[in-house]
Amino acid sequence: MIGAQWGDEGKGKITDLLSKSADVVVRYQGGVNAGHTLVVQQTFKLHLIPSGILYPGTQCVIGNGTVIDPQVLLREIDQLEALEISTKNLKISENAHVTMPYHRLIDQASEAHRGTHKIGTTKRGIGPTYADKSERTGIRVIDLMEPETLRKQLRWTINYKNVILEKLYALPPLDPEAAIAEYLEYAERLRPYVADCGLLLDEAIQQRRNILFEGAQGTLLDLDHGTYPYVTSSNPVAGGACVGAGVGPTTIDRALGVAKAYTTRVGEGPFPTELLGDVGKMLGARGAEFGTTTGRQRRCGWFDAAIGRYAVRINGLDCLAITKLDVLDSLEEIKVCVAYELDGQRCEYFPRSTRKLARCQPIYETLPGWQRSTTDCRSLADLPGAALDYLKFLAELMAVPIAIVSVGAKREQTIIIEDPIHGPKRALLSANVSPVDVNQEVKR
Ligand code: IMP
Repeated sequence: MIGAQWGDEGKGKITDLLSKSADVVVRYQGGVNAGHTLVVQQTFKLHLIPSGILYPGTQCVIGNGTVIDPQVLLREIDQLEALEISTKNLKISENAHVTMPYHRLIDQASEAHRGTHKIGTTKRGIGPTYADKSERTGIRVIDLMEPETLRKQLRWTINYKNVILEKLYALPPLDPEAAIAEYLEYAERLRPYVADCGLLLDEAIQQRRNILFEGAQGTLLDLDHGTYPYVTSSNPVAGGACVGAGVGPTTIDRALGVAKAYTTRVGEGPFPTELLGDVGKMLGARGAEFGTTTGRQRRCGWFDAAIGRYAVRINGLDCLAITKLDVLDSLEEIKVCVAYELDGQRCEYFPRSTRKLARCQPIYETLPGWQRSTTDCRSLADLPGAALDYLKFLAELMAVPIAIVSVGAKREQTIIIEDPIHGPKRALLSANVSPVDVNQEVKR
């Protein structure tokens, strides 16, 4: 399950829904930049632990492709345990990289240093942790488990990072011994959770258990396939699941994309359908569009089918979940970007150059709104005709069936059109069959 836009598509709710049928839920990339809000006895936020942890029989895995901030992870474990939600089914990959204090400091300092070139990161040290992984100076979970290795590595690395902190950013140096003591303490607490997760997943695959790979962020924040440089430093696309969890591509049966009924984005970078006026403000207010991790206000705009088609292609999506349809309930008319005008020419595809994207003007089709609440709808038949037409239009534009529609934050505010686990495969689609026909075919 992946995000088909710029993240914040409402994946948390869909994970929760699918976790019921999953034996294992795996996070395969990202770190504490992600976040979802859970309401169990009280409201709290999880940044690293998959929400599958709420189901007592579900194994949760934080894969090798993630970056782990032990302080935040331990806080999440403590919060769950305090609510008597067991974390004994949580496993952390020994190959995952660890976010260190210098990563957070460098993330903050480099954003300030970039000035108008800033990315708008979450300042959680994500980019610098992945940079060290690529540079091969990173500290992995397995290194935390070996005190002597950790001591040696941290002494060397902190002395190296202190040069950057002091000389480049004029910040005070870090004390290696204090960091060693702090991280050794985290290590002891994390030890029972650490495992060879590739092996563990292979066993689950051999036993034909259901595994849900949960992407954080979204397709357009992907380091390789997103709107570079305004991206995160990992691979949220479906292909990232194989690398970030340590499983082969042939083990994955289906790819489900999650997209909002409109578009949002946090941080900097071009956004062709952005609405800067009242409609954008209304979407932000009705959709409670504030970041879970940073509390920043999200930028809002109309649905963009060029992005949708791109996400379908890059992720090989079999079907889509459309979330927050209810946020559009009060609108008289709704626009959908069907293509762009780029330098005077119609452009059907999502351009790979961020500079080109910044020049794209959306070409809109306007559909009538339904001006009725959809929050109590539980089947397609309950939806107002205009809402159904809107969904059909999106499915046709992206040539992919819609499996789930969400009309509110609560679990029950969901319309299941097709079972996304056993439902339609994209391979069923041919050029002559519309996704709506496929939906009907499958039902028969
Ligand atoms: P970083 O991941 O903190 O380095 O931030 C890089 C970009 O990704 C920024 O534009 C962030 O706003 C964005 N980003 C990171 N995580 C999320 C997320 O979970 N939702 C939405 N945007 C995110």
